Amino acid sequence: MKITVFDDHQALSFQVAQMMVAQIKNKPDSVICLASGETPFLAYHLLPTLLLDEGVDHQQFTLIGLDEWVNIPSQNTGSCSYFLHTTLIGPLKLSLSQFKLFDGMAPDLQTECDSMDEFISKRGGIDLMVVGIGMNGHIGFNEPGVSTELYAHVIDLDDTTQTVGQKYFADKTTLGQGITLGLKHLQEANAAILMASGDRKAHIMKATLEGPIDPLIPSTIIRNHPNGLVMLDQKAASLL
Ligand code: GLP
Repeated sequence: MKITVFDDHQALSFQVAQMMVAQIKNKPDSVICLASGETPFLAYHLLPTLLLDEGVDHQQFTLIGLDEWVNIPSQNTGSCSYFLHTTLIGPLKLSLSQFKLFDGMAPDLQTECDSMDEFISKRGGIDLMVVGIGMNGHIGFNEPGVSTELYAHVIDLDDTTQTVGQKYFADKTTLGQGITLGLKHLQEANAAILMASGDRKAHIMKATLEGPIDPLIPSTIIRNHPNGLVMLDQKAASLL
């Protein structure tokens, strides 16, 4: 695992966007799994222009959504699906066969998980994962204590996630469960980037990088990844 610290969120975002461009350029049919949230927003926003500038054909890569809130419709502006549609799927004009997102309203969530696992495995696995980190060290919705052996699964959200998650929603929203790719997907991905930005992530980044590798802090698993990259801005790195 490698750690890189950038001056600010903009510099961090630009580098992540460039790495996504390089991934698609080097392997046009890449399978790329992406988180939602405030942290990667700018990187995704920069991506269409960078792809255009580099003349990279992005009609062959596949986008996988990392996670979703259970019981939240995709039209809700706080859903991960809405975020990925408005930041990437729409602007990049991805075709229907080019992306797969969890449906948090699916009547059978286990079938939804199985379908995601099968979709990824049929495409030969994930080439690149870009993930953020929760205030409790979660990756996607892999909450503290989750098994590192799980693929896609449904999980009860812990109190921190339910509280912090309100920031994505226009009105107070009940957030009980999440559906997410598992830490097994992260471990099996060819490469994984963990992004963190801002003072509020400084404490959890110190625990992630300097404490013991511990299932109670799921993000610590990135340290075992041979192609793991932790990319931080100075504020998130301020306690290291
Ligand atoms: C959310 C999502 C994660 C995201 C993380 C950090 O709850 N489930 O996929 O990476 O928490 O979000 P943010 O970038 O908004 O801080």
